[in-house]
Amino acid sequence: MCGIIGVTGTGPAVPRIIDSLKRLEYRGYDSAGIAALVDGRIERRRAKGKIRELEAVLLAEPLAATIGIGHTRWATHGAPTTTNAHPHKAGRVVLVHNGIIENFAELKSELAVAGRVFESQTDTEVVAHMLDEALKTDTNPVTAFKSVLDRLTGAYALAVLIEGEDGLILGARRGSPLVVGWGEGEMYLGSDALAVGPFTQKISYLEEGDYVAVSRDGARMFDVDGTEVKRPIVQVSASSAMVEKGEYRHFMEKEIHEQPDSVQRTLSEYLDFVNGRAKTPAIDFTAIDRIQIVACGTAFYAGQIGRYAFERLAGLPCDVEIASEFRYREPAVTPGTLAVAVSQSGETADTLACLAWCKAHGLKTAALVNVHSSSMAREASLLWPTHAGPEIGVASTKAFTAQVAALLALAVAAGVARGRIDAPTEAELVKALFEAPRLIAEALQMDGDLREVALDIAKATDVIFLGRGPMFPLAMEGALKLKEISYIHAEGYAAGELKHGPIALVDEFTPIVALAPMDDVFEKTASNLQEVAARGGPVIMIAPTRAPDPHGAGIRRIAAPDCHPLIAPLVYAVPMQLLAYYTAVQKGTDVDQPRNLAKSVTVE
Ligand code: G6P
Repeated sequence: MCGIIGVTGTGPAVPRIIDSLKRLEYRGYDSAGIAALVDGRIERRRAKGKIRELEAVLLAEPLAATIGIGHTRWATHGAPTTTNAHPHKAGRVVLVHNGIIENFAELKSELAVAGRVFESQTDTEVVAHMLDEALKTDTNPVTAFKSVLDRLTGAYALAVLIEGEDGLILGARRGSPLVVGWGEGEMYLGSDALAVGPFTQKISYLEEGDYVAVSRDGARMFDVDGTEVKRPIVQVSASSAMVEKGEYRHFMEKEIHEQPDSVQRTLSEYLDFVNGRAKTPAIDFTAIDRIQIVACGTAFYAGQIGRYAFERLAGLPCDVEIASEFRYREPAVTPGTLAVAVSQSGETADTLACLAWCKAHGLKTAALVNVHSSSMAREASLLWPTHAGPEIGVASTKAFTAQVAALLALAVAAGVARGRIDAPTEAELVKALFEAPRLIAEALQMDGDLREVALDIAKATDVIFLGRGPMFPLAMEGALKLKEISYIHAEGYAAGELKHGPIALVDEFTPIVALAPMDDVFEKTASNLQEVAARGGPVIMIAPTRAPDPHGAGIRRIAAPDCHPLIAPLVYAVPMQLLAYYTAVQKGTDVDQPRNLAKSVTVE
């Protein structure tokens, strides 16, 4: 998750870009850079490290321009060096990027054959070369840009300058956010309202797939099909976008939509995308013989999903327990156990107490937390950070997917370390994980269908969620989300367990939401759905289009993105969250601050 800013006007652009980058530093600070058009020519300044390093470079080599783009980097591909720092340049084009170009390796080989030489290890540089190449045959920068965008796979936000196109900044978004800021005789492009906050409070939020041509006096916006569109200009408050809802009605909705970014940022901590490898965490997975995860609430379900991955991929026995139970039952732990506390806040009293207990009993400890300065982060010997950013909505969404992403990536690392995963399999799994941000962005497009389903769910008094394998804990998380914010009673069951009792609850008024990705147990889940449908239960099956129909009367299908089974918990979390969200909105409850709950429970 990097930060992007672009400024085009008549006054000095560089001080504005630096000001904005400082506000964006929370998104990453591995390196920073600026590119500007000076007398129509591209000039660049870049530095490894924080913005202050870039300022030092600018002091030595000042840059006077009225148009420029800036970037603060969270390294995903290639080490955090000056050469890998954005902006990246090729011929007449210079650009900054946030996200992952998934097909960069294939595009790079194609460009190399055409004689293109690359100076960095980044995925980003290919885009600069592609646009420079496209401009040779298409002199219209906007259509040339669109032809390049059409060839990119992945999640991205881009800001681009072109030599000879003074005053123009091109931008595009897919998966990663980008806003247009409207000033007086000056226009801006930024990662969020915070980026342009010091200059304007008038913002247009680009929609998924949009691209834009920003000039000094306005912006022309186009949708994914190339049709010129107008996105509304909204007035935001001058304060930080971190604590603002921006274009969204609730923080929860905003946080659901931030997940392509937050998952990507978290995965980058644990994976090396360039080489298709899991990074080696500061732990020897061959020196432990068991993992004990402790957590509460949503984090507990994330831990359960992690368990499937650790056992399947690494052959590492893994137990997951609710912290308030583990704490008082005098568990029998063995010395080779690694205790992992999973927590958004890092402050939950019961989880913290378990961590202290495990440490006191001589176990190795790790804290998988979103708040990196929290008590758990300090207590544990190992810090496994998630990078969801601040989560304001009490019902956890982006912190959950960040936890799941980290656990899946760590399970791959454990599998490699323990000799259970060979190099080609590692590359396949890492690739699958890096596809998650894009597929999460696709899953966000299910909102229209889910809004409709929510109208029915809102009328129910009981809802059952079903899943098998890692979809079982996700079903429980889906039920928890619905309970928390819509106050409708819901339960998550293992699909195969339903017939052992809970099926007695099934009647025509009890919706059954089934999570059915195309995994190795799809057929089994489909059979369970037939059993429910045969008893009159209205089934809502969330599955990819290619999944065969279970032929049950009353089975309503909602199409979800097709994905590698490893990342299905990340992708299918989105419809669970959206369903709960739209149901709560329909019922008119207090979505961000549901009754009786607290974000961080520091009492037992
Ligand atoms: C509270 C929150 C939940 C959260 C749980 C654990 O109950 O309402 O959303 O999952 O605490 O919090 P933690 O910060 O430890 O993840």
